[in-house]
Amino acid sequence: MTDSVHIVEVGPRDGLQNEKVTVSVETKIRLVERLAATGFRTVEAGAFVSPKWVPQMAASDEVLRRVKRRPGVAYPVLTPNMKGYDAARAAGADMVAVFGAASETFSRKNINCSIAESIDRFRPIMEAAVHDGIPVRGYVSCVLGCPYEGDVDVARVAEVSKILFEAGCAEISLGDTIGVGTPRRTAEMIRAVRDAVPAERLAGHFHDTYGQALANVWTAYEMGVRTFDASVAGLGGCPYAKGASGNVASEDVIYSFERSGVPTGVDLDAVIESAAWISDALGRRPESKVTLARATS
Ligand code: HMG
Ligand code: MG
Repeated sequence: MTDSVHIVEVGPRDGLQNEKVTVSVETKIRLVERLAATGFRTVEAGAFVSPKWVPQMAASDEVLRRVKRRPGVAYPVLTPNMKGYDAARAAGADMVAVFGAASETFSRKNINCSIAESIDRFRPIMEAAVHDGIPVRGYVSCVLGCPYEGDVDVARVAEVSKILFEAGCAEISLGDTIGVGTPRRTAEMIRAVRDAVPAERLAGHFHDTYGQALANVWTAYEMGVRTFDASVAGLGGCPYAKGASGNVASEDVIYSFERSGVPTGVDLDAVIESAAWISDALGRRPESKVTLARATS
């Protein structure tokens, strides 16, 4: 198995969806373009969801249309239903993501339907995507805990992952939405999911609410996972998971892997510059230890 890792930069979507300040379309476009220039091969560019539910993602069509694309870089966007998929395709989406959950209550709060109903909504998206030659990521949220239900059964995570994988998702991204996971719980969860979906088709999506995200990334890596979602400056959160903090910071993941001899293909210094730039634009400090360390050294 290859030793290199693929980092999916989710800052422009997961990072910005929960921001209190309104972020201009120009800033979003600049962020996506800057991140793509640092070497990320996948930069999640937005979400085609209801603007009433998530106002920060409202102009995702304009962002996707206007971003200057780099060859070899994919710009996935979230599509919860066919309305979102059709709009994403019209704006030139080259990859989409459906997003389900392993917790019933979270599914209802986040996308207003049960897990079973969500899968029924995703199937036509996957059929259309196959027809259009568009790869689909499948997110499963609450894989290590739910803000409404508490502990989540790893067998349920494996079951939902398997359904999405068999329905046509090229990759399953396992979301610790509220960042409650620990390395041992992560190992237990990956062990269960690995029986249903090959490890090389899994991605780890760890939020850092309790400071466990990087440890969980490494646990998943040791178990064969090679794709990790991360967010520039550690931005992020989910509007339907109160208190959830940002994703693991891209800079910290890159630093940790590169210093351990695992190539990421991303230029750390350039990501640190982007982290400082977007944090400044949002009027906040970068969450990443690496960016803070560089700023004070
Ligand atoms: P609904 O209200 O059940 O949908 O929402 P509906 O079909 O009944 O339609 C109601 C209204 O929404 C209509 O407009 C539709 O046109 C509109 P109205 O007639 O009232 O003016 N609508 C849409 N508008 C734009 N784009 C669409 C769309 N669909 C319907 N695609 C829906 C269902 C899924 C749309 C809603 O619940 C929603 O948008 N939810 C957003 C959830 C979200 O974005 N959450 C954050 C991302 S998930 C996450 O962060 C977790 C993740 O990072 C992994 C992890 O950390 O675990 C991925
Ligand atoms: Mg997330």
